[in-house]
Amino acid sequence: MQHLITTDDLTIKQIEQILDDALRFKLQKKPVSLLKNRLLFTLFFENSTRTRSSFEVAAKRLGANVVHLDPSKSSTNKGESVEDTFLNLCAMLPDGVIIRHSDNHLAKKLSDMNLTPLLNAGSGSYAHPTQALLDLFTLKEHFGSLDGLKIAIVGDIVNSRVASSAIALFGRFGIKISLVAPEPFMPRDTNLPKFDKLEDVLDDVDVVMSLRAQFERHNKPVFENYETYASHYCLTKENIGSRDIIIMHPGPVMRNIDISDEILDDKRSKVLTQVTNGLFVRMAILKLLLLDS
Ligand code: CP
Repeated sequence: MQHLITTDDLTIKQIEQILDDALRFKLQKKPVSLLKNRLLFTLFFENSTRTRSSFEVAAKRLGANVVHLDPSKSSTNKGESVEDTFLNLCAMLPDGVIIRHSDNHLAKKLSDMNLTPLLNAGSGSYAHPTQALLDLFTLKEHFGSLDGLKIAIVGDIVNSRVASSAIALFGRFGIKISLVAPEPFMPRDTNLPKFDKLEDVLDDVDVVMSLRAQFERHNKPVFENYETYASHYCLTKENIGSRDIIIMHPGPVMRNIDISDEILDDKRSKVLTQVTNGLFVRMAILKLLLLDS
Protein backbone atom coordinates (compact mmCIF):
# COMPACT_ATOMS: atom_id res chain seq x y z
CA MET A 1 0.00 0.00 0.00
CA GLN A 2 1.46 3.38 -1.00
CA HIS A 3 0.99 6.56 1.03
CA LEU A 4 2.05 10.12 0.25
CA ILE A 5 3.25 11.83 3.42
CA THR A 6 6.33 13.55 2.02
CA THR A 7 7.73 13.62 -1.50
CA ASP A 8 10.48 11.28 -0.25
CA ASP A 9 7.81 8.54 -0.33
CA LEU A 10 8.08 8.70 -4.13
CA THR A 11 10.93 7.47 -6.31
CA ILE A 12 12.20 9.68 -9.13
CA LYS A 13 10.51 7.25 -11.54
CA GLN A 14 7.16 7.68 -9.77
CA ILE A 15 7.52 11.48 -9.77
CA GLU A 16 8.29 11.41 -13.49
CA GLN A 17 5.21 9.24 -13.99
CA ILE A 18 3.10 11.80 -12.07
CA LEU A 19 4.46 14.64 -14.24
CA ASP A 20 3.79 12.65 -17.45
CA ASP A 21 0.30 11.56 -16.39
CA ALA A 22 -0.56 15.11 -15.26
CA LEU A 23 0.44 16.44 -18.68
CA ARG A 24 -1.68 13.77 -20.39
CA PHE A 25 -4.65 14.69 -18.17
CA LYS A 26 -4.13 18.38 -18.97
CA LEU A 27 -4.12 17.72 -22.73
CA GLN A 28 -7.11 15.35 -22.63
CA LYS A 29 -10.46 16.93 -23.50
CA LYS A 30 -12.53 14.26 -21.75
CA PRO A 31 -11.32 12.80 -18.45
CA VAL A 32 -11.23 9.02 -18.22
CA SER A 33 -13.20 7.36 -15.40
CA LEU A 34 -10.18 5.50 -14.06
CA LEU A 35 -11.45 5.63 -10.47
CA LYS A 36 -15.12 4.75 -11.10
CA ASN A 37 -16.81 3.36 -7.96
CA ARG A 38 -13.82 4.32 -5.77
CA LEU A 39 -14.53 6.16 -2.52
CA LEU A 40 -12.33 8.85 -0.98
CA PHE A 41 -12.72 10.71 2.29
CA THR A 42 -11.41 14.25 2.70
CA LEU A 43 -10.71 15.30 6.25
CA PHE A 44 -9.49 18.89 6.62
CA PHE A 45 -8.78 20.03 10.18
CA GLU A 46 -7.25 23.26 8.81
CA ASN A 47 -8.84 25.68 6.35
CA SER A 48 -8.30 25.20 2.65
CA THR A 49 -9.58 26.67 -0.59
CA ARG A 50 -7.27 25.23 -3.22
CA THR A 51 -6.10 21.84 -1.94
CA ARG A 52 -9.44 20.53 -0.76
CA SER A 53 -11.38 21.63 -3.87
CA SER A 54 -8.60 20.52 -6.17
CA PHE A 55 -8.47 17.02 -4.65
CA GLU A 56 -12.26 16.79 -4.83
CA VAL A 57 -12.45 17.94 -8.45
CA ALA A 58 -9.52 15.67 -9.39
CA ALA A 59 -11.20 12.64 -7.81
CA LYS A 60 -14.56 13.45 -9.43
CA ARG A 61 -12.96 13.96 -12.86
CA LEU A 62 -11.60 10.44 -12.52
CA GLY A 63 -15.07 9.14 -11.62
CA ALA A 64 -14.51 8.61 -7.88
CA ASN A 65 -16.99 9.43 -5.13
CA VAL A 66 -15.80 11.89 -2.49
CA VAL A 67 -17.20 12.28 1.02
CA HIS A 68 -16.06 15.30 2.99
CA LEU A 69 -16.09 15.06 6.77
CA ASP A 70 -16.36 18.53 8.29
CA PRO A 71 -14.28 18.34 11.50
CA SER A 72 -16.24 21.21 13.07
CA LYS A 73 -19.39 19.04 12.87
CA SER A 74 -17.71 15.69 13.52
CA SER A 75 -17.52 13.73 16.76
CA THR A 76 -13.98 15.02 17.38
CA ASN A 77 -16.00 17.88 18.95
CA LYS A 78 -17.46 15.34 21.39
CA GLY A 79 -14.00 14.26 22.45
CA GLU A 80 -13.29 11.49 19.93
CA SER A 81 -9.59 11.38 19.04
CA VAL A 82 -8.45 11.97 15.46
CA GLU A 83 -7.03 8.44 15.49
CA ASP A 84 -10.45 7.01 16.40
CA THR A 85 -12.14 9.21 13.80
CA PHE A 86 -9.72 7.81 11.22
CA LEU A 87 -10.31 4.20 12.37
CA ASN A 88 -14.06 4.70 12.01
CA LEU A 89 -13.74 6.18 8.53
CA CYS A 90 -11.51 3.26 7.53
CA ALA A 91 -14.20 0.88 8.81
CA MET A 92 -16.38 2.21 5.95
CA LEU A 93 -13.82 0.74 3.53
CA PRO A 94 -12.69 3.81 1.57
CA ASP A 95 -10.09 3.57 -1.19
CA GLY A 96 -8.13 6.44 0.32
CA VAL A 97 -8.19 9.25 2.88
CA ILE A 98 -6.93 12.78 2.23
CA ILE A 99 -6.04 14.63 5.41
CA ARG A 100 -4.86 18.10 6.47
CA HIS A 101 -3.93 18.75 10.09
CA SER A 102 -1.80 21.21 12.06
CA ASP A 103 0.12 18.32 13.70
CA ASN A 104 3.39 17.77 11.80
CA HIS A 105 3.38 14.03 12.43
CA LEU A 106 -0.27 12.95 12.47
CA ALA A 107 -0.46 11.95 8.78
CA LYS A 108 2.59 9.70 9.16
CA LYS A 109 1.16 8.16 12.34
CA LEU A 110 -2.15 7.37 10.61
CA SER A 111 -0.41 6.01 7.51
CA ASP A 112 1.61 3.63 9.71
CA MET A 113 -1.68 1.85 10.52
CA ASN A 114 -1.67 0.83 6.84
CA LEU A 115 -5.47 0.72 6.62
CA THR A 116 -5.95 2.76 3.44
CA PRO A 117 -3.74 4.90 1.18
CA LEU A 118 -3.19 8.15 3.05
CA LEU A 119 -2.63 11.40 1.17
CA ASN A 120 -1.13 14.28 3.13
CA ALA A 121 -2.85 17.52 2.08
CA GLY A 122 -0.70 19.59 4.44
CA SER A 123 0.75 18.70 7.84
CA GLY A 124 1.67 21.61 10.10
CA SER A 125 4.89 23.27 8.98
CA TYR A 126 6.30 19.87 8.00
CA ALA A 127 5.12 18.88 4.52
CA HIS A 128 2.77 19.70 1.66
CA PRO A 129 3.84 17.12 -0.92
CA THR A 130 1.11 17.70 -3.51
CA GLN A 131 1.89 21.45 -3.58
CA ALA A 132 5.57 20.70 -4.24
CA LEU A 133 4.65 18.29 -7.03
CA LEU A 134 2.31 20.77 -8.72
CA ASP A 135 4.99 23.44 -8.42
CA LEU A 136 7.52 21.09 -10.02
CA PHE A 137 5.05 20.40 -12.85
CA THR A 138 4.55 24.16 -13.35
CA LEU A 139 8.32 24.71 -13.54
CA LYS A 140 8.76 21.85 -16.03
CA GLU A 141 5.84 23.07 -18.13
CA HIS A 142 7.32 26.56 -18.35
CA PHE A 143 11.05 25.85 -18.67
CA GLY A 144 11.10 22.37 -20.25
CA SER A 145 14.17 21.31 -18.29
CA LEU A 146 14.53 21.52 -14.50
CA ASP A 147 18.24 20.84 -14.03
CA GLY A 148 20.14 24.03 -13.14
CA LEU A 149 17.05 26.22 -12.69
CA LYS A 150 17.53 28.88 -10.02
CA ILE A 151 14.70 29.74 -7.64
CA ALA A 152 14.44 32.19 -4.76
CA ILE A 153 11.95 31.33 -2.02
CA VAL A 154 10.84 34.52 -0.26
CA GLY A 155 8.82 34.99 2.92
CA ASP A 156 7.95 33.03 6.05
CA ILE A 157 10.11 30.04 5.12
CA VAL A 158 10.62 28.63 8.60
CA ASN A 159 6.90 28.09 9.18
CA SER A 160 6.03 26.98 5.65
CA ARG A 161 5.27 23.37 4.75
CA VAL A 162 5.29 24.52 1.11
CA ALA A 163 8.92 25.66 1.45
CA SER A 164 9.87 22.53 3.33
CA SER A 165 8.46 20.23 0.63
CA ALA A 166 9.77 22.39 -2.23
CA ILE A 167 13.30 22.34 -0.78
CA ALA A 168 13.18 18.55 -0.38
CA LEU A 169 11.78 17.89 -3.86
CA PHE A 170 13.44 20.52 -6.04
CA GLY A 171 16.94 19.56 -4.89
CA ARG A 172 16.37 16.04 -6.26
CA PHE A 173 15.88 17.54 -9.73
CA GLY A 174 18.97 19.76 -9.77
CA ILE A 175 17.09 23.00 -9.01
CA LYS A 176 19.21 25.52 -7.10
CA ILE A 177 17.40 27.23 -4.23
CA SER A 178 18.16 30.49 -2.42
CA LEU A 179 16.24 31.65 0.63
CA VAL A 180 15.23 35.29 1.15
CA ALA A 181 13.67 36.33 4.44
CA PRO A 182 14.05 38.53 7.49
CA GLU A 183 15.72 36.79 10.41
CA PRO A 184 12.50 35.63 12.21
CA PHE A 185 11.28 33.90 9.01
CA MET A 186 14.60 32.28 8.06
CA PRO A 187 15.25 28.62 9.00
CA ARG A 188 18.51 28.06 10.89
CA ASP A 189 19.06 24.39 10.07
CA THR A 190 19.85 24.69 6.36
CA ASN A 191 22.95 24.93 4.21
CA LEU A 192 21.08 26.73 1.41
CA PRO A 193 22.26 30.25 0.52
CA LYS A 194 20.46 32.83 2.66
CA PHE A 195 19.75 36.49 1.88
CA ASP A 196 17.85 39.19 3.71
CA LYS A 197 17.42 41.46 0.69
CA LEU A 198 15.38 40.63 -2.40
CA GLU A 199 17.57 42.81 -4.63
CA ASP A 200 20.58 40.61 -3.83
CA VAL A 201 19.04 37.62 -5.68
CA LEU A 202 16.74 38.99 -8.37
CA ASP A 203 19.43 39.25 -11.06
CA ASP A 204 20.48 35.65 -10.55
CA VAL A 205 17.22 33.63 -10.55
CA ASP A 206 14.71 32.24 -13.03
CA VAL A 207 11.86 32.02 -10.52
CA VAL A 208 10.71 33.83 -7.40
CA MET A 209 8.36 31.86 -5.15
CA SER A 210 6.66 34.11 -2.63
CA LEU A 211 5.13 32.76 0.60
CA ARG A 212 2.69 34.40 2.98
CA ALA A 213 3.31 34.92 6.69
CA GLN A 214 1.89 31.82 8.42
CA PHE A 215 0.03 33.74 11.14
CA GLU A 216 -1.68 30.55 12.37
CA ARG A 217 1.76 29.16 13.36
CA HIS A 218 3.04 32.29 15.13
CA ASN A 219 2.73 32.12 18.90
CA LYS A 220 2.86 35.92 19.04
CA PRO A 221 2.91 38.57 16.30
CA VAL A 222 6.31 38.44 14.54
CA PHE A 223 5.99 41.91 13.03
CA GLU A 224 3.73 44.66 14.31
CA ASN A 225 3.43 46.20 10.91
CA TYR A 226 3.29 44.15 7.72
CA GLU A 227 3.49 47.29 5.59
CA THR A 228 7.12 47.63 6.69
CA TYR A 229 7.69 43.94 5.89
CA ALA A 230 6.06 44.49 2.48
CA SER A 231 8.34 47.43 1.72
CA HIS A 232 11.24 44.93 1.74
CA TYR A 233 9.72 41.64 0.50
CA CYS A 234 6.62 42.37 -1.60
CA LEU A 235 7.14 41.55 -5.29
CA THR A 236 6.31 44.74 -7.16
CA LYS A 237 6.62 46.30 -10.60
CA GLU A 238 9.50 48.36 -9.20
CA ASN A 239 11.67 45.49 -7.89
CA ILE A 240 10.77 42.86 -10.53
CA GLY A 241 11.11 45.34 -13.39
CA SER A 242 11.36 43.79 -16.86
CA ARG A 243 13.28 40.70 -15.75
CA ASP A 244 12.61 37.49 -17.66
CA ILE A 245 11.54 35.52 -14.58
CA ILE A 246 8.35 33.87 -13.39
CA ILE A 247 6.50 34.51 -10.13
CA MET A 248 4.93 31.71 -8.10
CA HIS A 249 2.91 31.57 -4.88
CA PRO A 250 1.00 28.61 -3.41
CA GLY A 251 -1.85 30.84 -2.18
CA PRO A 252 -3.57 32.30 -0.35
CA VAL A 253 -1.78 35.47 -1.47
CA MET A 254 -1.73 38.46 0.83
CA ARG A 255 -2.17 41.06 -1.88
CA ASN A 256 0.29 43.97 -1.74
CA ILE A 257 2.18 42.32 1.13
CA ASP A 258 3.46 39.20 -0.69
CA ILE A 259 2.83 40.29 -4.29
CA SER A 260 1.44 43.56 -5.65
CA ASP A 261 -1.82 43.67 -7.62
CA GLU A 262 0.13 44.67 -10.73
CA ILE A 263 2.53 41.73 -10.54
CA LEU A 264 -0.35 39.31 -9.84
CA ASP A 265 -1.93 40.53 -13.10
CA ASP A 266 1.38 40.35 -14.98
CA LYS A 267 1.75 37.50 -17.48
CA ARG A 268 4.88 36.37 -15.61
CA SER A 269 2.69 35.45 -12.62
CA LYS A 270 1.93 31.71 -12.57
CA VAL A 271 -0.26 31.83 -9.45
CA LEU A 272 -3.49 30.71 -11.15
CA THR A 273 -1.62 28.37 -13.51
CA GLN A 274 -0.35 26.62 -10.36
CA VAL A 275 -3.96 26.12 -9.27
CA THR A 276 -4.97 24.71 -12.66
CA ASN A 277 -1.94 22.43 -12.71
CA GLY A 278 -2.75 21.28 -9.17
CA LEU A 279 -5.90 19.66 -10.50
CA PHE A 280 -4.06 17.55 -13.10
CA VAL A 281 -1.18 16.71 -10.77
CA ARG A 282 -3.62 15.51 -8.09
CA MET A 283 -5.41 13.39 -10.71
CA ALA A 284 -2.04 11.81 -11.50
CA ILE A 285 -1.27 11.30 -7.80
CA LEU A 286 -4.63 9.61 -7.19
CA LYS A 287 -4.02 7.37 -10.21
CA LEU A 288 -0.58 6.40 -8.91
CA LEU A 289 -1.66 5.68 -5.35
CA LEU A 290 -5.02 4.05 -6.00
CA LEU A 291 -4.43 2.24 -9.29
CA ASP A 292 -0.76 1.80 -10.10
CA SER A 293 0.73 0.97 -6.68
N1 CP B 1 -1.80 26.11 -1.45
C1 CP B 1 -2.65 25.71 -0.50
O1 CP B 1 -2.38 24.76 0.27
O2 CP B 1 -3.83 26.44 -0.46
P1 CP B 1 -5.06 26.09 0.50
O3 CP B 1 -4.61 26.32 1.92
O4 CP B 1 -6.17 27.02 0.09
O5 CP B 1 -5.41 24.64 0.28
